[in-house]
Amino acid sequence: MTGNSQFIPVQAPADTSITIGELLQNAAAIVDRIDARWLLQSILNTDAAYLIAHADRSPDVDQINRFRQLLARRAAGEPVAYLTGAKGFYDLVFEVTPDVLIPRPETELLVEMALAKIPADRECNVLDLGTGSGVIAVTIAKHRPEACVMAVDLSARAIAVARRNAEKHAVKNVVFIKADWFSHFTAEKFDVIVANPPYVAEGDPHLEEGDLRFEPIAALTAGRNGQDCLRSIITQTPDYLVPSGWLMLEHGYDQAAVCHELLGETGFTRLFTRTDLAGIDRVTGGQYG
Ligand SMILES: C[S@@+](CC[C@H](N)C(=O)[O-])C[C@H]1O[C@@H](n2cnc3c(N)ncnc32)[C@H](O)[C@@H]1O
Repeated sequence: MTGNSQFIPVQAPADTSITIGELLQNAAAIVDRIDARWLLQSILNTDAAYLIAHADRSPDVDQINRFRQLLARRAAGEPVAYLTGAKGFYDLVFEVTPDVLIPRPETELLVEMALAKIPADRECNVLDLGTGSGVIAVTIAKHRPEACVMAVDLSARAIAVARRNAEKHAVKNVVFIKADWFSHFTAEKFDVIVANPPYVAEGDPHLEEGDLRFEPIAALTAGRNGQDCLRSIITQTPDYLVPSGWLMLEHGYDQAAVCHELLGETGFTRLFTRTDLAGIDRVTGGQYG
C-alpha cells in the first residue's frame, strides 16, 4: 500500500472541482474503500448516507487537502481509528487516541456477559480493570444507571481519554482511577469484576503487523507467555469480590484453559468460557465462594 501513496501526493494543489464521488474513487486505488469513506466522513463531519446522496458535491480546498493527508497516513499503515479519533463500540461511539487500545468488537462479548450479571433495577458495584479508553466501564455504566462503576488503568493518559468518554456520553456513575490493578483499594468489595488485560506474549510476531504496530505496547503485552496480567488479576480478585461475586476476563484464543486452571486453583466455581463471533474462546469467568 505504501508504494501507491505517490498517486495522491499530499502536497499537490487541490482540484477544487473534484467531487466526493471522484475523491473516493481515486482513494480506492491506495486504501480500502471503507477506510476511505470513514476518513472522508470524519473530515466532512458527516455520515455514509451523506457521501452517497451528495457524491457530486465538491468539498472545499482545506477539506480535500486534509483528506489527502489522512489517506497518505492510512496508506502508511496508521489505524483508521487513530486518524479519525473515533471508534464505535456496542451502541456508542468513543474517542480514541494513540494512548489507548483501539476497542475491538470481540470485547462487546465481555460487556454483554457482564450486563447479564448486573441487575438493572438496583445498585451493584462493578470494577473494570485496565479500562483504556473506558469502553467497557462507560458502556456498562450507560446501560446500568443504578450501578456504581469503578475503572482503573496504569496509564494516566488512558484515564484522561476514558474520562472524556464518560463526559461525552453523560455518564455520571463511573469513577476512573490511575492505579496498578487493585493497588488503590483496601476494603472495597465488588459484585462484578471485568477485565480485558494485556494478554499477548512479548515478542509475538503479530505485534509487528497491522494496527498493533501503532497501539501502546503496555496495552498489549503481558510477559513471556502473555499470561502475567491474567494471573495477577485472578489471584488478587478474591480479596475484592463479595461472596458469590463474578470475575470475567477477556483473553487470547489459546488462554481459556490456563484461565480455567487459575480460576479453579484460586477457589472460583461455575467456571465458563464463551466464544466470540469468530468461534474463538474469548471470555472466561467464574463465581467466587
Ligand atoms: C488490552 S487494553 C484494554 C483497554 C480497554 N479495556 C478495552 O477493552 O479496549 C489493557 C489496558 O490495561 C492497562 N494496564 C496494563 N497494565 C496495567 C496494570 N498493571 N494496572 C492497571 N492497568 C493496566 C493498559 O494501560 C491498557 O489500557
